[in-house]
Amino acid sequence: MTALSRALILATALLGASSAVPSPTQKVIAPTAERIETNAKHSNKLRGSDEIDLILQTPTDFHPDTFYKAHTSTKESIACHRKSGAAGVYGAETSDCDSPISLVNATFDWIADNLQDQLDFVIWTGDSARHDSDEKIPRTKSQVIGTNKLLAHKFAETFVHGMKIPVIPTFGNNDILPHNILLPGPNNWLDTFTKIWKKFIPEVQRHSFDHGGWFYVEVIPQKLAVFSLNTLYFFDRNAGIDDCTRHSEPGFQQMEWLRIHLDMFRENGMKAIFMGHVPPARTDSKQNWDETCWQKYTLWLRQYRDVIVGAVYGHMNIDHFMLQDTKEINFKKMTVDWAKTHAIEKRSHQASWEDEEFGIASASDYLHELRTHWAKLPNLVSKLPALEVEDDDEVELDEEYDYDEDEDLEAESSKKKKKDGKKGKKKKKKNPLEKLGGKWAERYQLSMIGPSIVPNYFPTIRVIEYNITGLEDHVTWADALDNPDLFSDAGAADLFNLNDEEEDILELDAGGYETESKKKKKKKKKKKGGKKKKQKPNFEVPDAPSKSSPPGPAYSPQPLTFTGYTQYYANLTWLNNDMTEKDEAHVGPERWREGMHEGKSPKHNKPNPRDFEFEVEYSTFDDERYKLKDLTVKNMVHLAYRIGKNKKKSKKGKSKAINEAEWMDGGDFEVELGEWDDEDEDWDDDEEEEDSDDESESEDDESEDDEVETDKKKGKKKGGKDKKKKKKKQHKKHAKNKVWMEFLRRAFVSTIPRDELKKYAVDEGGVYIVGDVEEQEQVVLDEL
Ligand SMILES: *[C@@H]1O[C@H](CO)[C@@H](O)[C@H](O)[C@H]1NC(C)=O
Ligand SMILES: *[C@@H]1O[C@H](CO)[C@@H](O)[C@H](O)[C@H]1NC(C)=O
Ligand SMILES: *[C@@H]1O[C@H](CO)[C@@H](O)[C@H](O)[C@H]1NC(C)=O
Repeated sequence: MTALSRALILATALLGASSAVPSPTQKVIAPTAERIETNAKHSNKLRGSDEIDLILQTPTDFHPDTFYKAHTSTKESIACHRKSGAAGVYGAETSDCDSPISLVNATFDWIADNLQDQLDFVIWTGDSARHDSDEKIPRTKSQVIGTNKLLAHKFAETFVHGMKIPVIPTFGNNDILPHNILLPGPNNWLDTFTKIWKKFIPEVQRHSFDHGGWFYVEVIPQKLAVFSLNTLYFFDRNAGIDDCTRHSEPGFQQMEWLRIHLDMFRENGMKAIFMGHVPPARTDSKQNWDETCWQKYTLWLRQYRDVIVGAVYGHMNIDHFMLQDTKEINFKKMTVDWAKTHAIEKRSHQASWEDEEFGIASASDYLHELRTHWAKLPNLVSKLPALEVEDDDEVELDEEYDYDEDEDLEAESSKKKKKDGKKGKKKKKKNPLEKLGGKWAERYQLSMIGPSIVPNYFPTIRVIEYNITGLEDHVTWADALDNPDLFSDAGAADLFNLNDEEEDILELDAGGYETESKKKKKKKKKKKGGKKKKQKPNFEVPDAPSKSSPPGPAYSPQPLTFTGYTQYYANLTWLNNDMTEKDEAHVGPERWREGMHEGKSPKHNKPNPRDFEFEVEYSTFDDERYKLKDLTVKNMVHLAYRIGKNKKKSKKGKSKAINEAEWMDGGDFEVELGEWDDEDEDWDDDEEEEDSDDESESEDDESEDDEVETDKKKGKKKGGKDKKKKKKKQHKKHAKNKVWMEFLRRAFVSTIPRDELKKYAVDEGGVYIVGDVEEQEQVVLDEL
């Protein structure tokens, strides 16, 4: 079914250009005469098949650098501008150099040749200027504006004029000067970008853009809009703003703007995709947004979960995703008082960050932190024991969840201690689905992070597909350009005429997924008259979806739901054709990465590049490892669970397993997730190595390559029982979570060879250990 409809879409690639998408997807590019005919007749139709259509999510983080020169040095402070070295024609992959214009041009050419007539709209997630990484050539305002203009021109030419599809840009933290700091509008920068992005911002919204740098585009008129969020007003490092709690703050106003428009969208049955540059990352080492902004955003996404289709971001350069947990919503942290108390702390953060420009926090540390969170997720597929969970009075909003993250899987000792402190709470049995916010996992929200064009790893682009059932003959953006009445008129709403005094506080409706038992409990609590005073918010809390409304497109498969994506990358090592020996990315903890070019001379005296092309790195449609039927939150939560899974822990859970029927509300849940195999399938225990050696064991599993893994997997499937017996003897040190390994590999866009990757797979829990943990190098997170 799915394969068929995709084949139809991709077939349209053959219409506009004779070249097709290269290799791995080849099998789905089966042109059908029928489809081509249809397309030829209605050139302004949504371009996909009956069911699925395409979005170009990235390109993100281009970082074009007009000073880049091939065969220069990748060293710090030189940044591929001077001296001699092995920097390639299309960029110096795995280094911190920015992108040459040739890479920018080649990217657009490739997209025009290969994705023409397939795309419905393009999401361009910012950072279209180089970094300030060369003291000899400091960034100037005209350069920042210049490369932004260059890219705006390329986007307009290729898509708006060429393909007649909308492009939605957004601010990156490097698109302004000094970087990171954008003052509240109106200001010169917003003014400048109103002009640069004139072709992309709908006219009715230019006034509002001038104030805040946010806008939306109805990419399918009256059905679907993409909201370009100005994340710089949420960004913790933006010293030009404070937080999202005061009416005067642009972050506060942006949330108001969202609320007003999302209310209208709900009323009109329209849906929204969110996009922005800086994603809402929030782990111990990495908090991208001001906490008050994160709080409100998460609350908003929760309340509008019937409207929002998905959220896509850039900035981090690594390919990954994150889940916001609505259990963390805390109204106290949306108040001016709280923000004031935390302002000092925040300022000291900002000050220290300034010194650590390229981040002490490494990407791998950060990914490990995500994984630690995910390790606490319950398994949706196999049976979970009834869990003893404590009441948690701290979270007002989400008391229906009563999720205790430490309870289901073993907690880190520190957290245990903390918990021992709050004794005397009553325990009760929990349904694991309740912990997820019901069978659609509505407790969680998904943010997808596209990796960059700038070749800190390899340059990438991502094509997302979404379901267009029932919209096949709908008017397109291009139709509506000629006839603006076809757009909904909501865009005209002007936030800046709102009544600022408006302080009505709506009681928060707990929403559609509160169970009966919870409601009763809630009532009881109210009767008891809890001591806790409700902090009155100084903003209008958005309404939750009506209880009768079905789950939104992010949660249950329906029209507009993201069905999957294809990740493309350009192997610059191959394309530049300048590396001599077996070259590996040097990944050290230093602030600046010279990449695989460190100390090398190019193979050719004159650059001799190959013809540029992107290839498929992976596609979620035929993905053996991720096994994503679509990108709905519950599927991503389950993927996160599998990535986070720690063998020892899951075994424990298993021993207590009870009949899943008790947990499956309605029954179809199991059917939908049933494609996943038994949990063991994701594990590689390396028993051969383990049995024979002990001391040296930790040093290598070098034999471990693709083939070996495949063989083992096959063997596993055949002799399942034997295998399991063997496994019991395993030392936990040797258990390796393959889904986690794959997640890591993809995070670094396949630049880190498998055996080297193992080093980064280690975590404190000893899930996979090779070599001495103390000696592990860290991959520096290039967030700028
Ligand atoms: C990139 O394309 C532009 C036209 O869009 C052209 O003017 C420029 O010379 C090209 N630069 C390179 C390095 O190919
Ligand atoms: C697309 O949505 C329709 C309507 O909800 C559904 O029947 C169909 O199965 C969906 N297609 C895919 C590929 O998810
Ligand atoms: C990229 O190309 C180089 C040089 O041909 C090759 O050694 C390497 O394996 C390729 N990387 C990937 C991920 O295919």
